[in-house]
Formats: sequence, C-alpha cells, structure tokens
Amino acid sequence: MEFVEVKDKVFRKFISLEQINLVVQQIADRINADYKGQNPLLLGVLNGAFIFAADLIRRLTIPCQVSFVKYASYAGIRSSEEVKELIGLNEDLKGRHVVVVEDIVDSGITMNHLLKDIVKYNPASVRLACFCMKPENFVKTFTIDYLGIEIPNDFIVGYGLDYDGYGRNLPEIYKLEN
Ligand code: IMP
Ligand code: MG
Repeated sequence: MEFVEVKDKVFRKFISLEQINLVVQQIADRINADYKGQNPLLLGVLNGAFIFAADLIRRLTIPCQVSFVKYASYAGIRSSEEVKELIGLNEDLKGRHVVVVEDIVDSGITMNHLLKDIVKYNPASVRLACFCMKPENFVKTFTIDYLGIEIPNDFIVGYGLDYDGYGRNLPEIYKLEN
C-alpha cells in the first residue's frame, strides 16, 4: 500500500517492513553484546512502544525481564505546567540495569522527564533504546544509546505510532502527505 487514510488524513509509505526489521535486529545485536551476563530489565513505554518492544524483545538472546510503564499527563490547577506521572512501575529498579524502550523521540521533553523519574529508583544503569528520532527538534538533554533511525520533521504513523489514537496497527510506517 503506497497510501493509507488514517482518520481524516492521507499518509504515504515511508519505512518498509524490511527496513524496520533490519533496524530492530541491529539494535538487538548491540543489546545482546552489551548486556551479556547482566540480566537487564527492559522497560517499554506505553502506548506507542508496544510493537517495537515486542519485536525487539523477541530478538534478545540474553536472559532479561520485561515490564511496561505509562505516562499520564494532568493539567495543573494553578500553574499551566503539565504534571506527568509514572503509572504501573511495580518492578524494583534498585540495582537493575534498565533499558528504556521507546518508539519515538521528538523534542525529547517526554523522555527527559521519564529518565529523571527512573533514576530516582536507584537503578545500576539506565540506557535508552529508541526506534526513531527527529534531530531537528531534539533538546539534547540525554543520550539515545541505541537509536534506530533519524527522520525528518514529518508526522508519522504506524508500527505503534498513532494519529489521534489511530494507525498504530499499520505494520509499516507512513508519513503525512502534505
Ligand atoms: P517529545 O516529548 O517532543 O519528544 O514527544 C514525544 C512523543 O510525541 C512521542 O512519545 C509520541 O507520542 C509523540 N510523537 C512525536 N512525533 C510523533 C509522530 O511523528 N507521530 C506520532 N507521534 C509522535
Ligand atoms: Mg511514546
């Protein structure tokens, strides 16, 4: 499919399944090598990372554990500041080697917040595996240790990524047709 309609917009094929599989395998190879004998905890960030995490984890050959977290945002009452909260972090991170698994980093504000929260649980180490990022907007407050693809500043859907909740089920990645 060259074009798909998601909700009220048209998207054009951007990253094929072959490319996706290649990128995921490359990240898995590096994690398998780097975490040999370390029993890492992979921490997927819901909702977007559920498909990337599932693909990545099935390519890991080292002993590892898997959990997921979700960030909820609330509008502050007095200040206009957004308050974010980790939901479902029931694993004990203390002393663990944590690999955060995320679908996309844009400005990096969301991930910056999440990484700061995770460090409070005193893990032995924290690294980030991210399927794709948009370098144009990135604030560079943290390092993406395992990065799949750098993409231009386009809006994309598929492979877990959504437009207004839709399009996560598309096996390949599409970008907004202008
Ligand atoms: P950041 O805080 O600017 O890095 O935004 C990251 C979040 O924005 C991601 O977790 C996604 O939920 C969302 N996002 C950013 N770019 C896209 C996109 O192209 N498609 C779908 N969601 C996106
Ligand atoms: Mg996300």
